[in-house]
Amino acid sequence: MKAKYHRVMIKLSGEALAGDDGFGINSSTVKKICTAIKSAYDLGIEIAVVVGGGNFWRGRQSNEMDKSTADYMGMLATVLNALALQDSLESMDVPVRVQTAIEMREIAEPYIKRKAMRHLEKKRIVIFAAGTGNPFFTTDTTAALRAAEIDADIILLAKNVDAVYDSDPNVNPNAKRYSNLTYLDVINKGLKVMDSTAITLCMDNCIPILVFGLKDPQNILRAITGEKIGTLINGDDDE
Ligand code: GTP
Repeated sequence: MKAKYHRVMIKLSGEALAGDDGFGINSSTVKKICTAIKSAYDLGIEIAVVVGGGNFWRGRQSNEMDKSTADYMGMLATVLNALALQDSLESMDVPVRVQTAIEMREIAEPYIKRKAMRHLEKKRIVIFAAGTGNPFFTTDTTAALRAAEIDADIILLAKNVDAVYDSDPNVNPNAKRYSNLTYLDVINKGLKVMDSTAITLCMDNCIPILVFGLKDPQNILRAITGEKIGTLINGDDDE
């Protein structure tokens, strides 16, 4: 098996780590995801990971709470998830470095782009935690920003649906499934793939995004080896 990419950004949703529990961290689910990441790692590619925090806290779930406070709580939730992923990957002898966008040096290194690049070159998986460190930005935007900074070839956006549809396939059985989309399609059609800040950041920096389902964690390996799964979003207009 051969990898199609040299350096990838894997974006995992926090909910993915909860498995069927629906909340918190399900260790066997984390193990399955990390086993799949390890098989991709074993192909020799450089891997960065951004993980959400929705399994603990959704920054926008409370209308009463100050938005910044709610977002900071969400950033802390991503740190819990990053440490769980680090622990699981390290138990499989995969070298990992967690970097946090908000300094908490007792727990992990602070985010330093040049150090992150060095870790990647030395074949360490780098997990970026605490979002961008700023409220009002999502972890999708974090993935786009860090992908641009580390010059990743692609963002692998692992979701709870297997591709992008024009409406929710769980609600509408006739939902149209897309295999290719442009950034502008996503924006103009109002497709809920990533928030608009994240998608425009990808567009401006020509970073393709592959959206696929994480229900089968082996999809991570399929994505990395270039198998046709999910929906590819890029600047090409030739579906
Ligand atoms: P090289 O410089 O390539 O050798 O990278 P390295 O990460 O192995 O070296 P370093 O001495 O920077 O780090 C050794 C260990 O300490 C790694 O597990 C780092 O993640 C960790 N580490 C480095 N800086 C910090 C920090 O500021 N806070 C915490 N908590 N850990 C750190």
